[in-house]
Amino acid sequence: MKKIKCYAPATVANVVCGYDVLGFAIDNPGDEVVVSFNNNNKTVITKIEGDQGKLPLDAEKNVVGHVVNLFLEKINSNQGIDIELYKKMPLNSGLGSSAASSVGALVAVNELFDNPLSRHELLPLAMEGERLASGNAHADNVAPSLLGGLVLIRSYDPLDVVKLPVEMDLHVVSVHPHVDVPTGEARKIIRQQVPLKKAVEQWGNVAGLVAGFCTNDTDLIGRSMKDVIIEPIRSMLIPYFAEMKQTALNHKAIGFGISGSGPSVFALCKNKDEAEKIAIELHKLLSAQNISCESLVTKINNEGAVIL
Ligand code: HSE
Repeated sequence: MKKIKCYAPATVANVVCGYDVLGFAIDNPGDEVVVSFNNNNKTVITKIEGDQGKLPLDAEKNVVGHVVNLFLEKINSNQGIDIELYKKMPLNSGLGSSAASSVGALVAVNELFDNPLSRHELLPLAMEGERLASGNAHADNVAPSLLGGLVLIRSYDPLDVVKLPVEMDLHVVSVHPHVDVPTGEARKIIRQQVPLKKAVEQWGNVAGLVAGFCTNDTDLIGRSMKDVIIEPIRSMLIPYFAEMKQTALNHKAIGFGISGSGPSVFALCKNKDEAEKIAIELHKLLSAQNISCESLVTKINNEGAVIL
């Protein structure tokens, strides 16, 4: 029986100033999804590991089953599929956990059928996984997990997605304080109106960030990693956010911010030593306040999801 296994990387969405329009993939962690044909004309989730029993096995309620069903509909197939999901990252952490699962399932099932769809054609299906998980079909986690690199969602309607390969050897520190911030809730608290003055600041920073990545200018990237719209609100959900930011910047981070909708935070760093030092300092800071956390040091991933 043919079995296909896919590794889909975690992602840092928004990259501080680019709410819903920017995201990059990181080398690890990433979810693994295994798919194979079955004989009962149904999509069946046969196994989930690493979720502490929190995710539904019902295929329509779990993003992996949901996106596989959309894929089958798209290619006009009523073939049954068995899915095994190996979660390698915490749920609701801000690392694009649901996105990695959706992307892993889609890339694996596409390979099982000998790739009838391109990665860009899989993207709208993966976005439906995000709609199921958070109530909104944003692309800034699924697109980088699918394509790798830094991805810009230039437009949602029509969908226009641009991959910018990252040539610099940047390191990423991610710290996950153990507090609960579901994406759906973190989206509801954002104000729906933006004063023009703040909008001007924000789009200047988005353009600056993209320009910085295109010209390998880490100073410009750092100056542009500022969010005057979303971060002031969402950071209230993350304990000691301001102190963590100051600590990271004091220890030479290029920039610091919320990873996706949080509660994870991340710092972009020029090298591994600086990244590891920041991870230790942020750990110390949170431990002193009796807040447990996990941290990781990784790199920006340019490949996106891969078949193992
Ligand atoms: N752009 C989304 C948000 C990413 O910030 O809500 C969620 O991970």
